[in-house]
Amino acid sequence: IATNAHRIAVIPGDGIGKEVVPEGLRVLDAVGQRFGCAFHFDTFDFASCDYYLEHGQMMPDDWKAQIGGHDAIFFGAVGWPETVPDHVSLWGSLIQFRREFDQYVNLRPVRLMPGVPTPLANRAPGDIDFYVVRENTEGEYSSIGGRIFPGTDREVVVQETVMTRIGVDRVLRYAFDLAQRREKKHLTSATKSNGISITMPYWDERVEAMAPHYPDVRWDKYHIDILTAHFVQHPDWFDVVVASNLFGDILSDLGPACTGTIGIAPAGNINPERHFPSLFEPVHGSAPDIAGKFIANPVGQIWSAALMLDHLGEREAGAAVVRAIEEVLARSEYRTRDLGGTAGTTECGEAIADAVLSG
Ligand code: NAI
Ligand code: MG
Repeated sequence: IATNAHRIAVIPGDGIGKEVVPEGLRVLDAVGQRFGCAFHFDTFDFASCDYYLEHGQMMPDDWKAQIGGHDAIFFGAVGWPETVPDHVSLWGSLIQFRREFDQYVNLRPVRLMPGVPTPLANRAPGDIDFYVVRENTEGEYSSIGGRIFPGTDREVVVQETVMTRIGVDRVLRYAFDLAQRREKKHLTSATKSNGISITMPYWDERVEAMAPHYPDVRWDKYHIDILTAHFVQHPDWFDVVVASNLFGDILSDLGPACTGTIGIAPAGNINPERHFPSLFEPVHGSAPDIAGKFIANPVGQIWSAALMLDHLGEREAGAAVVRAIEEVLARSEYRTRDLGGTAGTTECGEAIADAVLSG
């Protein structure tokens, strides 16, 4: 292993994960040739339903030792509901990575690509280009609460939102850092401090306390209800949008839905301190309905590789991969069926790899 090589744990998983991951690797090979960065790939067969059928568990007991030392995890998709229930496959793998590796940032780009139909009227590529940064470990998704007097007239159900200063500040810092690196240097915070009158004013307070550390970042905030409307009506207003777990969950589906199809959307699950590897994956699942036909769109996986390159500090290479995707999607002959084209997974992946090499 070259000492400067990025060590990547590759986990294809199930279904089309096994078809699109090789296209991601093809593009990373092209990146290596074009930009001179070195990668060392270790492929793992666990975190898949095949592994489960053989071993009775989704991952080996020492999975953390096996992949914990890598610089990043390049993940396909997990799930094969015909043989393993989805909650078993998901909780036994992906959720473990997110928790055990403290991947407290969920990052999703929202960018309108050429050749991808948008449900928003009168928008062209270039108009929409922002990131949603979601807090991924606390907030509304807590397990504090309970139910008393179940099944009676006095039934009471409570679930508490948990916000910690450490938890809020660290995701805000990530979002402000990201905004600072971007051209527009603009951060938007999602809040609801008019209705949720304890935790959300606290969130706002921490945004206000963080902002002075980033004097060149312009920032604003919107209540979540009108913010969802602005995503649809004024997507051009945004650059980096930061949100709590619940609000971020909603925005990180809404944003990408405004700009395309599930086949192209990527995501990062990031541990910014790099104490643990971060995980990069397409948003889509294993798509059992089209698996085995090599017709899946590899763009979500390849765009995930671009996010991974950014995280590894290879920003020029990451930008080149996004440009290559745009170049290829702009030409109809390399679009896959979900985008109305006829190309197969491999043809599309090869075209993007070629575009990286010649770009
Ligand atoms: P899915 O994303 O796998 O598929 C939904 C629909 O989108 C299907 O019709 C599929 O053919 C299509 N599709 C998805 N990706 C595509 C691509 N790259 N190109 C073209 N078409 C594509 O979601 P679904 O069907 O709800 O779940 C299937 C399995 O995947 C389940 O086991 C589920 O638990 C798992 N899953 C895993 C995820 C992950 O690993 N992060 C995320 C979502 C689902
Ligand atoms: Mg969601």
